Amino acid sequence: MSEYAQASVSNFFKSDINFNDVYPLNIRRLSIRHWTPIHIAKLAAGFLADEGSKILDVGSGVGKFCLAGAYYAPDVQFFGVEQRESLVRRAVWAQRTLAIENVSFIHGNFTQLNLKEFNHFYFYNSFYENIDDIDRIDDEIDYSEALYEYYVRYLYNGFQQMPKGTKIVTYHSFQQEIPKGYEMVESHQNGDLIFWVKK
Ligand SMILES: C[S@@+](CC[C@H](N)C(=O)[O-])C[C@H]1O[C@@H](n2cnc3c(N)ncnc32)[C@H](O)[C@@H]1O
Repeated sequence: MSEYAQASVSNFFKSDINFNDVYPLNIRRLSIRHWTPIHIAKLAAGFLADEGSKILDVGSGVGKFCLAGAYYAPDVQFFGVEQRESLVRRAVWAQRTLAIENVSFIHGNFTQLNLKEFNHFYFYNSFYENIDDIDRIDDEIDYSEALYEYYVRYLYNGFQQMPKGTKIVTYHSFQQEIPKGYEMVESHQNGDLIFWVKK
């Protein structure tokens, strides 16, 4: 990549407002409520990014956590799974604009994945939209309390089966998806951002 192109990419990461420029207006409007701020992604990636590891964002939206994480931890592979195809398309578009290679976006439900194919995880309270009737991303999917319970239990079971040393970062989560055996090793942002390690 030329120096000019590198400078232009680094400009996107200078602030959340700059980063928003990779997305159209309807996606920018959702930013404050739904997409991880750049400084949070940088902090989380710094904790998760062990050399050679694979990091999964469970519910990756338009890819902001993965893209910022991958930018700050270029030697680590990031994956994002997202149920809404339109958001995956936005994520891939942003990835091309930023010329970031160490990210893969997967369209689907996280329940279709084998979590054991990944080493560490990021979780920004993705299932909350099922129990929150304001500020939803759209009306294209079914929401329900039962679905919330199902997803939380499913993720809990998946995390429970992971080996010792697995790291999880939760952001604005109620921690219901964190099984016994995971130790809180750091807490930031008044407890909104928590780093966990399986002991
Ligand atoms: C709060 S947003 C976070 C986006 C991204 N992780 C970030 O931090 O920028 C949560 C996302 O999770 C997605 N999601 C919710 N439940 C999901 C599921 N069961 N499987 C895959 N994606 C899901 C939603 O569609 C939404 O885009």
